[in-house]
Amino acid sequence: MIVTIDGPSGTGKSTVSKAVASMAGLPHLDTGAFYRAATLAALSEAIDLADANAVGAVVSGISLDQNRGLMFLDGDDVSVEIREERVTDAVSQVSSHAEVRRILVSRQRGWVAEHEGRAVVEGRDIGSVVFPDATLKIYLDARPEVRAMRRASQVGDDPDQVIEDLARRDHLDSTREASPLTVPDGAVIVDTSDLTFDEVVEKIVSLISAKS
Ligand code: DC
Repeated sequence: MIVTIDGPSGTGKSTVSKAVASMAGLPHLDTGAFYRAATLAALSEAIDLADANAVGAVVSGISLDQNRGLMFLDGDDVSVEIREERVTDAVSQVSSHAEVRRILVSRQRGWVAEHEGRAVVEGRDIGSVVFPDATLKIYLDARPEVRAMRRASQVGDDPDQVIEDLARRDHLDSTREASPLTVPDGAVIVDTSDLTFDEVVEKIVSLISAKS
């Protein structure tokens, strides 16, 4: 049982994925945290983040794990650092390198295999690239202004600035050559704009029950 949950930020993907995993009794993997930890590792080396070979070399040498919602880089808990602004600002660039994606896709598949092939996996390319044969694929979406308001209330920022940042990251994520953000084949699209959190979670959990 592999459930993939893709979609842009500000759709409630993270909180929804965690709640769905817990209700369905499945392990949860946040692949964005893998890209963020890889970015943190690259930032700690004196390399140019535009240099795909240099970034790939750093990422191939790190160890990544996720356990009960915490992210570990080379054995250290980096759950707080990976949410820092310097990481958020650089992660789209690091995740645009094909070699970085190749390494991290393989680590994500390995993580799920270690969890007996059962998981709710969230990200941007999970149903399209990482697990194209998943049991159930969900694509979460929401209107841009709704996403910006949710994001602003999360980080306490000016909504106009947040709209601008989201638009910039959406553009980078959906136009990059390597695995751009797309609606995977066969995915159920759930627009969360006018649904409550509980309604979204219930809808996905009932889709999972229908597959079990
Ligand atoms: O979901 P997030 O904001 O933590 O993701 C961080 C970045 O990683 C975001 O710019 C998109 C990228 N990402 C990706 O390219 N592929 C994934 N499977 C997950 C995240």
